[in-house]
Amino acid sequence: MQTFKVKTKVCFGKDAMSVLGGLTDVNAVIFTDAFMVKSGAADRIASYLTGARSVKIFGEIKPDPPIELIADGLAFLIDADADIVVALGGGSSIDAAKATILMAKRSGFKSDIKLIAIPTTSGTGSEVTSFAVITDKEKGIKYPLVDDELLPDIAILDPELVVSAPARITADTGFDVITHALEAYISTAANDYSDALAEKSLQLAFEFLPRAYADGSDLLAREKMHTSSCLAGMAFNAVSLGVNHGIAHQLGAKFHIPHGRANAMLLPHVMRYNADLNANFGAKTETEASVRLAKIARMIGLSGDDTNSLVLALCKHLFYMLKMTGTPLTLADAGVSKEAYEAVKPAIIDAALRDACTATNPRVMTPDGVAEILSHIAIW
Ligand SMILES: NC(=O)c1ccc[n+]([C@@H]2O[C@H](COP(=O)([O-])OP(=O)(O)OC[C@H]3O[C@@H](n4cnc5c(N)ncnc54)[C@H](O)[C@@H]3O)[C@@H](O)[C@H]2O)c1
Ligand SMILES: [Fe+2]
Repeated sequence: MQTFKVKTKVCFGKDAMSVLGGLTDVNAVIFTDAFMVKSGAADRIASYLTGARSVKIFGEIKPDPPIELIADGLAFLIDADADIVVALGGGSSIDAAKATILMAKRSGFKSDIKLIAIPTTSGTGSEVTSFAVITDKEKGIKYPLVDDELLPDIAILDPELVVSAPARITADTGFDVITHALEAYISTAANDYSDALAEKSLQLAFEFLPRAYADGSDLLAREKMHTSSCLAGMAFNAVSLGVNHGIAHQLGAKFHIPHGRANAMLLPHVMRYNADLNANFGAKTETEASVRLAKIARMIGLSGDDTNSLVLALCKHLFYMLKMTGTPLTLADAGVSKEAYEAVKPAIIDAALRDACTATNPRVMTPDGVAEILSHIAIW
């Protein structure tokens, strides 16, 4: 039996923030980062919590939240006697809140703390997923936590909060969305429900990411990218991801490449690898993944005479988008030295194969397969 469920109530459109006013007789803590505190966004969110007994702000979240931060967050929650946590920020703020609440529940502090996620990037989809990614900075390892307890109770999508994201962050996080939707679409667990979500997500992202990147104040583009990100989150929450994320997690942990950027650099190579394009082009053999990728290529208006030509057109289009957004194409461009890479290459390959995301990749991954994908970006 397969099941499909969405626990999180998604609030969007005009007055979506008003849902916060309905949370009465609670002690609230806002988990966020320094930018959201400085910009006044955290105070603005606090002002909507009109029914709360108390509102405190934990503004310490850093990108790729480390384990120590979760311990600090837990102490803050206990001190505030929190009943609800409002996570305001990108995936890092939302993931840190999720992991902290899980610890609070497991440690016996409170079993029913509610989580309201308010994303300020259109990227991770963390507002609707049962994943949280925590980093052990000392060991250079990213741990994806997977537990239904991590699912937020409410997600509020307000595109105005994303307007301040600079073009670089817009591009990185937007490519994260496209990677989520494409990996979910060709996941070995994909089904009609996840397909519907992934297809709509991709339709929106390919149309509106270039617009949001070119003009961050384009509210329609911001709104559509926020929707796209949330839909992709629902899709991959149901059917998981693939080796693109399996490798990107390692590049983030070892070299601190932002999550979306690491995914973006790998994306055309992973898609070409999954379609087995090099082997199949001459013979014109189709695979399940190549047929699916060709469908996406057609959906976004690319043309080609057959399946493999369409997949090639999709990979070329992804390259074009990387170039147009100034996204690094190689590890050298991303600031990684050859020596640093060579020193950890075996560890990256090993950890990518063990990463939970890799299990649903359409091509069964081997050390040689991961090495082949890496060889396309390991250029100096
Ligand atoms: N839980 C999941 O399902 C899931 C999925 C994918 C990735 N992740 C994780 O999420 C993290 C990445 O999250 P992210 O890509 O959203 O970035 P992020 O939360 O790490 O934020 C990146 C930077 O953008 C800034 N920022 C965020 N919103 C802004 C805005 N509106 N205006 C100006 N600056 C803004 C932040 O202050 C920060 O400096 C990684 O740790 C990744 O592993 C989680
Ligand atoms: Fe991601």
